[in-house]
Amino acid sequence: MTEQTTTDAPHRLRFEHLDDAVLGAGVARPRLSWQLPVGATRQTAYEIAAGDWSTGVVRSAERVLVPYTGPEPATRGRVEWRVRVWTDLGESDWSASAFWEMGLLQRSDWSASWIRPHELDVPEPGYRPVYALHSDVELTGPIALARAYVTAHGIYELVVNGQRIGDQELTPGFTAYRSNLQVQTYDLTTALHEGANDLGAFLSDGWYRGLFGYSRTYDNFGDRTALLAQFEVTYADGSTTVVGSGLGWGSTISNSTEADLLDGQRVVQRLGGFRWDRRDWQPVLEPTDPLCADWSRLCATPAPPVRRVRSITPASVTTLEGGRHIVDLGENTNGWIHLDELRPGSEIVLTHGEALDADGDVTTDHLRPDADSPTPSPFNQIDSVVSVGDGQAFEPRHTTHGFQYVAVDGLPGPLGTADLHGVEVRTDLRPTGTFHCSDRRVELLHEAAVRSWRTNACDVPTDCPQRERAGWTGDYQVFVSTAAFLDDIAGFTDKWLKDLASDQVPNGMVRNYVPSPEAAVGGVEGSSGWGDAAVSVPWQMWQSYRDREVLARQYPSAVAWLEFVKTTARTARAPERIEANPEAPEHEQFLWDTGFHWGEWLEPGVEIALFEGEHSIVATAYFANSARLLAKTAEVLGKAEDAARWTELAANVEHAWATEFIGADGRLARDSQATYVRALRFGLIPEHLVPSAVEHLVELIRAEGTHLSTGFLSTGMLLPVLADNGRADVAFDLLFQDTSPSWLTMIDRGATTIWEHWDGIDAKGTPSGSLNHYSKGAVIGFLHQYVAGLRPLESHPGYERFAVEPVLDHRLDWARATLETPFGLASSSWRREDGAVRFEVVVPADTECEFRVGEPVVLGPGTHVITF
Ligand code: BGC
Repeated sequence: MTEQTTTDAPHRLRFEHLDDAVLGAGVARPRLSWQLPVGATRQTAYEIAAGDWSTGVVRSAERVLVPYTGPEPATRGRVEWRVRVWTDLGESDWSASAFWEMGLLQRSDWSASWIRPHELDVPEPGYRPVYALHSDVELTGPIALARAYVTAHGIYELVVNGQRIGDQELTPGFTAYRSNLQVQTYDLTTALHEGANDLGAFLSDGWYRGLFGYSRTYDNFGDRTALLAQFEVTYADGSTTVVGSGLGWGSTISNSTEADLLDGQRVVQRLGGFRWDRRDWQPVLEPTDPLCADWSRLCATPAPPVRRVRSITPASVTTLEGGRHIVDLGENTNGWIHLDELRPGSEIVLTHGEALDADGDVTTDHLRPDADSPTPSPFNQIDSVVSVGDGQAFEPRHTTHGFQYVAVDGLPGPLGTADLHGVEVRTDLRPTGTFHCSDRRVELLHEAAVRSWRTNACDVPTDCPQRERAGWTGDYQVFVSTAAFLDDIAGFTDKWLKDLASDQVPNGMVRNYVPSPEAAVGGVEGSSGWGDAAVSVPWQMWQSYRDREVLARQYPSAVAWLEFVKTTARTARAPERIEANPEAPEHEQFLWDTGFHWGEWLEPGVEIALFEGEHSIVATAYFANSARLLAKTAEVLGKAEDAARWTELAANVEHAWATEFIGADGRLARDSQATYVRALRFGLIPEHLVPSAVEHLVELIRAEGTHLSTGFLSTGMLLPVLADNGRADVAFDLLFQDTSPSWLTMIDRGATTIWEHWDGIDAKGTPSGSLNHYSKGAVIGFLHQYVAGLRPLESHPGYERFAVEPVLDHRLDWARATLETPFGLASSSWRREDGAVRFEVVVPADTECEFRVGEPVVLGPGTHVITF
């Protein structure tokens, strides 16, 4: 994106959901967006121009995702576009221009071939090297323009004339490789020069064939890595040359003798770094992986890239007896360590973990997948470097770690906080939302939830950045609306949803995590609350970003999921029900009481029993909710018949749920907070029974000494449900609760990210489970939407109209939330002042705000101050 300098023109020109000037685009007819000139409040018309083409003056207020209708660019084609608008300030200047350039779109655009390293025997997983692949090219004149189009099976770094190209990490990213493989496009205009040039890449296992997930499976997509790279040069005289990867390239093991995304990287430095001018190249091999033959998988990415987004100065370094240094970053993160000024000859070993044991040493025992079993699986996040001491720093690029602490072994002499720093590595999302309030602990909770979310947004929404790093559908489903407040996740989610649909099983079942490595479906998939992401996440994209295209593209996937649930409910009955009643009562065809379910998952005090437990009360609730959401989706997409069909289904399922699970006394069949919360949130309780259900939910909370007892699925709904039903007092009691289980217990025990278990670090200081699992952090949605009161309205997606309805509590003196909506900056803040409350609301151009304190009023664009 080219930032406009004058304030009299539209600015922040966007291509789809991307801010930057886009190279290698895959969409020829993108949707374009812009912000109005400073001070304008209403757009009445716009004109988009690109080259000789223009829309002419279009009388319209549209400026979010406006379809481009100009000439369609061909492969490699570039469109420079700009826009001017008519607003209440009159006619604007033309904006600065933005551009997108198309990537290689068809098989015929590629002359490069896939190659694979010279690897005759495949080493053990976790111990496989980073290969260097190389060729050289003689360029015969001055260069006007040069591009590289690159992708890989594995993770690659592009290196031209000894220089690493670009600032993207972990390329080509993690996708459903069997269906989608992203190609990156690089500008090499200044990296290449007339004469001899070195072309190269480093290539490691990455997600393609490295260790992955809870079960540490490997070779998940194939057992060989491969590279595809095409270099295109336009000379100053207009002539062109194209060279690409192919037989004839050379291969060798790089200085990184071992690298695994999960386990870590080992580097043996050589004087002067890796020598690209070496002579001992071995010939690359032809790929054997059948996927290399499928060119239809190649695609551009709609998402921002993974980058090194921040460096973190350690809070402290302590040295244990024996010389082991313990580095504390002061916060939990995802990424790696940058180590400066190594001394020659030493082998330095870095062990990354999230917690310290009683001796102050780094422990990772709690991160072993099956930590409680007598023979738990290994868990390593260990990097090592053998240094030459010639000034080369150490920074791995083919592994990431979830960590706060690093144990450093083998370093002779002292280590100080200035000798190294943490590097946060994740998707470079544009931050959009903020929250602050008068209570520091609540702010720290907010910060921890934000950090947990962001450090888990590493190309896919992972459950945790250490143990599994899998794009668990359930985790994203519970958090996506909160994530959409904090960051612009539209492109990131667009990418993930496409993979969700690609990996969906033909019967409609959604995989546990996306992308999903295993080709075969295990017995533990298709769970309610997880697979429902297929319906609720696209809906969120519509709600937060007005992205109708993604909603429409995902519709068949959402329908397939619901059909899967419907068919399962209709055709299978739980053995207990058959036994109790051989003849199925009418409503049972809408009960989802078979299949595998995680259930509410991780309720405090409830033992994990994977294949036990009756989850139909959870599953059928999600069935009803997804049917309702799908009906709304169909309505937005103009599919009236479908909408009617899903509405009828929803009503039948709701009826079945009520028949089966609401007793004659109005009590629910399972007496848990989660059950009540979910039922109230999903509207499963008939209106006349709602007050007593709310009262009982409060009784359950009070019976626990005003503690929550919700698990994975309903924790984020708990406070909103209480506030929506007139019990904001109890919601705030839970928010401020600081004995376990509670959110503030985590903060008081030093959490900088949200824990998987409520007692992730128990009262004795013993860690269990992952200490960076964002799902419970969904509570901060309550801070945005209730405490600050900034709420989207379902009827007006993209915040075209929104509400401000703060819920005040005596424990807070002020609160403030800001949100960069698709239309511009909105904010809501309030403060107690001299016995009154002063509210300040900012309403972006082209939008309206329903201010719902006292007598509701509708506010137009601008800043409003209201005192009560
Ligand atoms: C993951 C979760 C996931 C769950 C399924 C765990 O191992 O870390 O976050 O959703 O399994 O219940």
